[in-house]
Amino acid sequence: METVVSGIRPTGNLHLGNYFGAVKSFLKMQHEYNCYFFIADWHSLTTHPNPEDIITSTRTILAEYLACGLDPEVATIYVQSDVKEVLELYLYLNMNAYLGELQRTTTFKEKARKQPNNVNAGLLTYPTLMAADILIHRAVKVPVGKDQEQNMEMARKFGKRFNSTYNVELFPNPESFAFSDKAIKIPGLDGSGKMGKSEGNCIYLKDDAKTIRKKVMKAVTDSGPTEPNSEKPEVIENLFTFLDIVSSKDTYSYFDEKWNDCSIRYGDLKKQLAEDIVAFTEPIRQRIEEYSADTAYLDKVAKLGADKARESAHKTLNLVQEIIGFRKS
Ligand code: TRP
Repeated sequence: METVVSGIRPTGNLHLGNYFGAVKSFLKMQHEYNCYFFIADWHSLTTHPNPEDIITSTRTILAEYLACGLDPEVATIYVQSDVKEVLELYLYLNMNAYLGELQRTTTFKEKARKQPNNVNAGLLTYPTLMAADILIHRAVKVPVGKDQEQNMEMARKFGKRFNSTYNVELFPNPESFAFSDKAIKIPGLDGSGKMGKSEGNCIYLKDDAKTIRKKVMKAVTDSGPTEPNSEKPEVIENLFTFLDIVSSKDTYSYFDEKWNDCSIRYGDLKKQLAEDIVAFTEPIRQRIEEYSADTAYLDKVAKLGADKARESAHKTLNLVQEIIGFRKS
């Protein structure tokens, strides 16, 4: 099986957009590839969170991914900071990473603009750490959002550069799986753009029925169709996108017909949509609660993942050490 690596930033709770944009493909991939999914807690240090936040957000993310169905017996799920081998590879890669190319990455420039008082070296070398995450397992596929393309290019460049510097074929070329292309874009409920944490238009997997109903009922609509079979404006199309994802085909066609003959009542649509979203998220929400309460289990999962990840990482690191001229660790 081919090796897949992906890192998850431990920021906040999973929402429907994350679920249909990324988590769902992880669930499928775990059975088709040798998967390493990790929580990128070192990367989160580039913005200086406090210690309690690191522990709680790591546990939150872990509980939520397990609740969605990531299986720690199938995929290797670990916390980045549990696998110190990554750091040694990060150091080696940094020796062949140049200031100019690191400074030129758009993510660095953006972050530097956003936090002008904290333009730290970790921020600058974010792409080398990410490359180390990927190369340490000699992964061939990396599922990431479109926004990660430049970091992926750097990872490929650093892997190739290592190979050519030492005249070896150690690292395969890690391809990005831009799953955001194939996945359905989950719109926000405020009628604009996509669902996103910073947009404040999210339905979280951990939201209870009452919260979800409230959010859906507030979704933006218009004054209704005036001519039969007219095109749906974006805000309405968005609601239908949701129906398409969480409701039955019958429900979708029912409201589609009502739209087409101009008899649609948005209140009815939203009520139905809210119930269908709740039916989808409720079992996940319950599992999130169960897992979150069981920190002993979460720690056990992290330990199991760390052991598996370290075994793979150690193998690669030994090869790297030999190639560079160090004793194997
Ligand atoms: N930079 C990625 C993001 O912001 C997270 C990440 C860190 C990652 N290391 C990785 C993704 C390795 C894929 C592979 O989403």
